Amino acid sequence: MHRYTTLPIAAALVATAALAHQGVQNPAVKARMNLMVEVKEATATIGGMVKGAIPFDADRAAQARADLIDHARRIPAAFQARETDPASEARPEIWTDWDGFTQAAEEMEQAAAAIDTSDHATLQDGLRKLGASCSGCHKPYRISK
Ligand code: HEC
Repeated sequence: MHRYTTLPIAAALVATAALAHQGVQNPAVKARMNLMVEVKEATATIGGMVKGAIPFDADRAAQARADLIDHARRIPAAFQARETDPASEARPEIWTDWDGFTQAAEEMEQAAAAIDTSDHATLQDGLRKLGASCSGCHKPYRISK
C-alpha cells in the first residue's frame, strides 16, 4: 500500500535549500547552513525511498539514519556562537532560548534514531516524525522566506 501524505513535507524541505545559501559572507554561518544541507540530503535519501524515486536499500537507509543522528548532535555546536549574516535565516530566539533550541536538536536526534530502516513500509512513518522534528525547530527558530 502506498500513502503519499509525507511527500509534501519532504519536498518542501528540499525545495528551499539552495537558495538561502547564496551570498553568505560569514564562514560560521556558511558552516551551519552546510550542516543543514547535509541534513536535507540525508532526509532526501529517505524521502526518495518512501516516494519510490530511489529504490529501497536498507543499508543506504541505515546510513542516512546514522548521518541524521550525527548531524543532529552537531547542531548545538554549529549554532552556539551568535554569528550573523544578512543571508541567515536564524532567529534571535536561538540564543535567547538556547535550552529550547538544543531540545529541538535532541528531538531531531530521537526522531532520526526511531526510524526503522529495515523495511520500505516502516520508513514512511519514520520520515513523517523526522519531518515533524524539522518543523519543530524551524518554526520557532528559523525565519521562513
Ligand atoms: C534544532 C534546530 C533545527 C533542526 C532540528 C533542523 N533545523 Fe534546519 N535550520 C535550522 C536553522 C536555525 C536554520 C537557518 C540557519 C541560518 O540561516 O543561519 C536552518 C536551515 C535549514 C536549511 C537551509 C540551509 C541553507 O542552505 O541555508 C535546510 C535545507 C534545513 N534547515 C533542513 C532541515 C531538515 C530537513 C531538518 C530535519 C530533518 C532540519 N533542518 C532540522 C534549525 C534546525
